[in-house]
Amino acid sequence: MSRVYIFDTTLRDGEQSPGCSMTKAEKLKMASQLVELGVDILEAGFPIASDGDFESVDAISRDFPNAKVAALARCCTQDIERAAEALQHARRPRIHTFIATSDIHLKYKLKRTREQVLDAAIKAVALARNYADDVEFSAEDATRTDLEYLEQVCNAVVDAGARTVNLPDTVGFSVPDEYAELIGRMVKVLGDRAIVSVHCHDDLGLAVANSLAAVRAGARQVECTINGIGERAGNAALEEIVMAVRTRQDRLPFQINIQSEKLYSTSQMLTQFISFGPQPNKAIVGENAFAHEAGIHQDGYLKEKSTYEIISPQSVGVPEGKLVLGKHSGRHALKNRTEDLGFQLTHEELEEVYKRFTSVADNKKGMRDQEIAKLVRTVTEAFKTSAV
Ligand code: KIV
Ligand code: ZN
Repeated sequence: MSRVYIFDTTLRDGEQSPGCSMTKAEKLKMASQLVELGVDILEAGFPIASDGDFESVDAISRDFPNAKVAALARCCTQDIERAAEALQHARRPRIHTFIATSDIHLKYKLKRTREQVLDAAIKAVALARNYADDVEFSAEDATRTDLEYLEQVCNAVVDAGARTVNLPDTVGFSVPDEYAELIGRMVKVLGDRAIVSVHCHDDLGLAVANSLAAVRAGARQVECTINGIGERAGNAALEEIVMAVRTRQDRLPFQINIQSEKLYSTSQMLTQFISFGPQPNKAIVGENAFAHEAGIHQDGYLKEKSTYEIISPQSVGVPEGKLVLGKHSGRHALKNRTEDLGFQLTHEELEEVYKRFTSVADNKKGMRDQEIAKLVRTVTEAFKTSAV
């Protein structure tokens, strides 16, 4: 069965979007969780963008020697050298260099000709290869690029040493059959000389559909993020890609090495670090993703789960009976639930959370996961500022 590699860009494309910035300590915790989850490549940041990004890439490279750590760089010497420096302690570094290839970007953004962009791409890949064997090239805005020119760029960067060629739908403009056609064509052009990768944005709500169509057309790396965070409407959601492949092996017979039972806690951990969580009806990790409310649904579900459930909550790590924890739930249940939600509390923090939980739960029917997570955040913040 063909293997599909999961390239996680939560800490780069995800982190650069509004409300998603993380501290170095948070990025390290997230990186640890992503490694446990089993991502194949961890894009840790864009080192030239800020000292913070540089330091995070450096720290992740040192702390996770077995992970394949990627750093982003534009196609220019300064960026590539900075990325290489940030990755110097990585045992398995990947330099990911990119330049836009569509005429619209060339004319208005880069103000360069196709020849100049082609030349910059070749030089950047060749330079990056001096620092890392593993070099990925991305043709930004590939889906709005002239296909003959795109072929020329793909061939040239592979000749220059790129092992992975990523063809992003940067503005989320493509539709599945069209994207599959583009990917199929480039897979044919490159053969086994390089892995073709996909990177889809969700402006039309098609990022996951486009990524899966591309995999069926021969792409073997998918770039995605936890909870689908990323520029504008976000990137393809990792958890959706993984569970679609797991659930529909009949149509998507590919091997993905992700520990799916860690998806929920990974999503919850990210929610702790950024300013928003997945919407309640978000597939796989949303609060209501496994809630059956309508009477007919509940009736069918109680008779036989498979009537309305295509994925078991356990398979993605959603805690048993996760919706409400009531006033009769003890410390143990609360501790387990906070762990399921991705928190690691000290004894004192847990005691304080328990104290507040029992007084709130006393006056209500119970507390939902999001309310528990909010309470835990309030308590851990209070401990940080010594207000407890
Ligand atoms: O969306 C995009 O094109 C990107 C590239 C830098 C890969 O994020
Ligand atoms: Zn992107």
